[in-house]
Amino acid sequence: MGTLIQGVHIDKDFPVSNGVLHVLKDVNVSFEEKALTVLRGRSGSGKTTLMNILGTLDRPTRGQILINGNDITHITDAQADMLRKTHISFVFQSVALIGSMNAYENVEFMLRIAGKPLDRERILHCLDLVGLSNRIRHMPYQLSGGEQQRVAVARAIVHRPRLLFADEPTAQLDSATSQIIMNMFHTIIREEGITVIMTTHDQNMMELADQVYTLDDGRIVTEAE
Ligand SMILES: Nc1ncnc2c1ncn2[C@@H]1O[C@H](COP(=O)(O)OP(=O)(O)OP(=O)(O)O)[C@@H](O)[C@H]1O
Ligand SMILES: [Mg+2]
Repeated sequence: MGTLIQGVHIDKDFPVSNGVLHVLKDVNVSFEEKALTVLRGRSGSGKTTLMNILGTLDRPTRGQILINGNDITHITDAQADMLRKTHISFVFQSVALIGSMNAYENVEFMLRIAGKPLDRERILHCLDLVGLSNRIRHMPYQLSGGEQQRVAVARAIVHRPRLLFADEPTAQLDSATSQIIMNMFHTIIREEGITVIMTTHDQNMMELADQVYTLDDGRIVTEAE
């Protein structure tokens, strides 16, 4: 297995009223293919900023993003949109399921966005992977927080992306449910060959990761197995 995505000498400055805020400082990270990497760090350390840059939602001020060794730093917005429709997917901390659609339809919606066939077997398979075969007709308000997050994961993988970014997917869940989500990521990695990069504050989640990066005030400070 090789490296799927790399950030090389990443800096991010945000313009603020009295100058610029230097949020990421010479960040060098590389993520193994088909592994679960955790990005940890205190609130404000730059986790979301880094994830958004790696996922092409935002751009670095300096530095490069490489996918499979190819420099994608300067791709056009349209190319970035295409990348996010096909290869890169996201799960956010606050689940944004569509309230008027049931679990099945929420997952199906991603196939519509990606312009892929609405493959019923595929949708059911993904709901099965996240352990929700018995909840497919439930509306979001009829699902627990953990179940909603699992639908969001099924939705994020149904179109077979290669890379899944999850920004604090377990922040609003209890530790047992968080553990279920982490184990589910491992199942998805094994069965779908996806690479997962997630952020968390939760110390207990580290041991379930294949790779851990720690951000402290915009710098990578440790790298542990
Ligand atoms: N668009 C922006 N403009 C100005 N400052 C920003 C912007 N986005 C983020 N920041 C600042 O950058 C720093 C890092 O933010 P970021 O959201 O990456 O932190 P985080 O590690 O994800 O924190 P949390 O754990 O609370 O989610 C923060 O101090 C934040 O205020
Ligand atoms: Mg964040």
